[in-house]
Parts: sequence; structure tokens; C-alpha cells
Amino acid sequence: MYLGLDFGTSSVKGVLIDAKQKIIATASSPLKVSRPHPGWSEQNPEHWWKAANLVVAQLRKAKPKAIAQVAGIGMSGQQHGATLLDKSGKVLRPCILWNDARSFEECKDILATCPEAMDITGNIPLAGFTAPKLLWVRKHERKIFDQVAKVLLPKDYIRFRMTGTYGSDMSDASGTYWLDVANRKWSDRMLTATHMRRDQMPELFEGTDATGQITPALAKAWGMPLRPVVAGGGGDNAAAAVGIGAVKDGQALISIGTSGVMFVSNDKYSPNAGKAVHAFCHAVPNTWHQMGVILSATDSLEWLAGLLKTPAPKLTAALGKKLEGPSSALFLPYLSGERTPVGDAQIRGAFLGLAHETSEKEMTHAVMDGVAFAFRDSLEALKDAGTNVTRVMAVGGGTHSELWLKVIATVLGVPVDLPVAGDVGGAFGGARMALMAATGASYKTICTAPKVAKTILPDSKIKAAYEAAYKNYTKIYPAIKDIK
Ligand code: XUL
Repeated sequence: MYLGLDFGTSSVKGVLIDAKQKIIATASSPLKVSRPHPGWSEQNPEHWWKAANLVVAQLRKAKPKAIAQVAGIGMSGQQHGATLLDKSGKVLRPCILWNDARSFEECKDILATCPEAMDITGNIPLAGFTAPKLLWVRKHERKIFDQVAKVLLPKDYIRFRMTGTYGSDMSDASGTYWLDVANRKWSDRMLTATHMRRDQMPELFEGTDATGQITPALAKAWGMPLRPVVAGGGGDNAAAAVGIGAVKDGQALISIGTSGVMFVSNDKYSPNAGKAVHAFCHAVPNTWHQMGVILSATDSLEWLAGLLKTPAPKLTAALGKKLEGPSSALFLPYLSGERTPVGDAQIRGAFLGLAHETSEKEMTHAVMDGVAFAFRDSLEALKDAGTNVTRVMAVGGGTHSELWLKVIATVLGVPVDLPVAGDVGGAFGGARMALMAATGASYKTICTAPKVAKTILPDSKIKAAYEAAYKNYTKIYPAIKDIK
């Protein structure tokens, strides 16, 4: 048995699989984000640990015998978060998350001190990445900065709690801005440029490597007498790609979660920093990936749902099943700034075209359209980087709305495949990495594509109307970018 644990922003999910990759049980436990100041986004690492324990307890209650046979654990995690530990392993402050916008000035500082940063990392420095966050802490919380003995990504903090090992995997480490992404090793140049040291970094592993075993005490507490090995694991997008078998050159996925991601697997390192396309290592050896990242995808819908005091699934269901065309309103989903294609942490979202007759339904529809347009921006940025996407597989909570998938397929102009058990995503990829780390099996045999439950095709009748709406959407950012 193999356990995958996904440390997302809104929940921790667990999936237990057997040696044939059959899903035996799933569980989840919710998480909250704290926003103590505008643009900030933080979580208490202790809450991840509590949620992980609750997930394991649920799985154990449902399948005690299967849990007792767990031989491997693999994690997937929200990327980029700065979890700061002192020399005794104590957490020094709340983790600054991937969608925190505070360190935009520090991104400029990095380029000023290290003009070759984009060549080393393959990416433009973005406020979401880990290195600028540490510069911010150095500037604003110097006492904390001086005590930092280790910087860990969210899932890697859980690895530390499970095994006592300080380790990370290549895909997640790519998002720190300290990795030499082409050569899969820490970059001393990037570390010195940001006042950091090699000994503050965890050891690097491939996602499919074994990084250690869970401690005897935890094995007892979780009812796992085999003391499972813990795989390197992956950043949540790379792990979701492992989960749907997107490990070969050109295979693409879109993740419609708190963030929105368009992900393409590459057999070589293919940077194109210009339009904030991320070029990172994949979670399997000798493989890389490119991504376009939208900071607020289902998060935009959740924001509207909060304002309208109506759960998001109810809002989307109210639109019915038939898509007649785009909303009469336009929405720019930049609630915490945006990564691809603008790389702007200070910009904020907008509604346009509001009228007396604009209803809750129209606004919901506009939010769904706006996120689809943001995906289209990522597709165009990837095209610019020489990558052609002709078909995508969709994962994440947003896939529960078929209408949303229809909008996305139409706006992207490509078929969208929905896998069976589509919402398992990164956790399933984590479970696969657990299997590979425990057995030594190759990703080439393990990472097959799931069966397609349904394919959503672009709707040719409304394509022209959506194309016109997208053109209007692309005019919003240039028009408002100086309003900050
Ligand atoms: C990717 C990114 C997000 C988070 C979400 O660069 O920041 O997709 O990983 O959990």
C-alpha cells in the first residue's frame, strides 16, 4: 500500500493506493488562509501537520488493515511557501505562501544585484517565489532572519516532521529561485545574491527517490509498522502531472484549483522568462516542465461566493447547463496580482461592463469567463515559448463544473479531457511517487494516463463571441496597469 498526501492551500488530501494503483480510500481535511495585511497570505505550518494527522486518522478508520501495510508515502505540496526554522527545528513565523504579494520590491533588488538571475533560474523573479520572501524578512523582520537555520517548502516541513530529514525535490526546489534549474542543483550565486547559505537549504532529491523513513514514534501513532519510506514527492502541479501521466514531452494539463495552472512536460530545459512562463524541473528524473500560473482561479469564485454568501457550487449551478455565450460583464481575476503573463504583484482585479441589469448570475459567469481568459493568456505565453498545446487534461476542484470546462475548452480552442477520479490530482501523483520510491519501479511504467471519463470540446457556435470577448479582456491590463 502507498499513501499520497497533497498539501494544498485550501485542504490536505490523502489517497491510499495498492500495488496495482487501485484507489483504496481517500480523505481530506480543510485549511484556512490568513491575510493579516492587504496582499499577504500566510498559514501556520502546525495546521498542515494537524490536518495530515486527521487525514491519516480518517483513512485508518476506513481501512485499518490497508494502512498497516503502507510501505511508502509521497507528498505533493503547494509550492514556494517560506517555512522558516531555527536551529532546533522550531517554526519562526507563519509560512509566507505562494500567493503572497508583499515582496515585489525585493524582486527588483534581486535583478539589480544579480543580473544573471534569469539565466541561472530560467525564470523572472516573482513575489510568489521563496527567495524574494527571505529578502523581505531580512528587511522587515531582521531578528527572525538572523535565526533562520533552514528554509523549507510546505510539504518538506511535513517530511521533516515525519522523518527528521531536511530534504526537497527538484520540482518544488525550482520554485525557490535558488535552484540552477538546468543542472538540478542549488546555485551558490543565487544564494549569495539573496544573503543565504547552502547549509540553510535542504538536501535535494528526485521526486521518485526515497528520502528517509518515518520515525518509529510516528509509525506507532499512525499504525504503519513497516515504517514507510518517504519519496521526494513534488510541487503540486508536477505531482498532479505525475498523477495523470503527463511526463512525456508535450503532454499538457490544466489545474483548476485555488491557483490555475497550464502545465506542459518537456524532455529538456526550455526557459522563456519573458512572459512569466515558469521553467521548472519535473518531479521525475531528467525531465522539466513549463507552466503558466494564474494566482486566483477557484479562489476568484470563492471570493465572489463569500461576498454573495452563496456556496460556489450553488453559484455555478444557477447558470444551468447550456452555454449561450460570454457574460455581458468582464472580470480580471488578479485578486492577488498575477504571474503569467504579466508578472505583476501589485495589480488587482477588476469588473467591467457592469450595468443596472447585471445580476449575480452574470457576475458569476464573468468570473468563470475571466479565469478561462487567464488560461488563454497562459496558452499564448506558452506558444510564444515555442510550445504548442493541442489537447489538455483537466484536474482540480473547478472541474466539477462542466459549464466552466465548456467555457475553458471554447476559449482555449482545444479539447479538454476529464480523467476518471479527476479530483485526486497531486495526492494520486504523490502515491505514485511513494510506490516508485519504495519499489524502485520506473516512472516510465508507473506514470500511465488515466482513462478519460469525458472529453469537453470547444463549442464552435459561440467561439466567435468568446474570441471577441477575449480580445476585450486583453485590453484591460494595459489600460489599468498604472492604477495601483
Ligand atoms: C505554482 C503555484 C501554485 C501553487 C498552488 O507556481 O504557485 O500553483 O503551487 O498550490
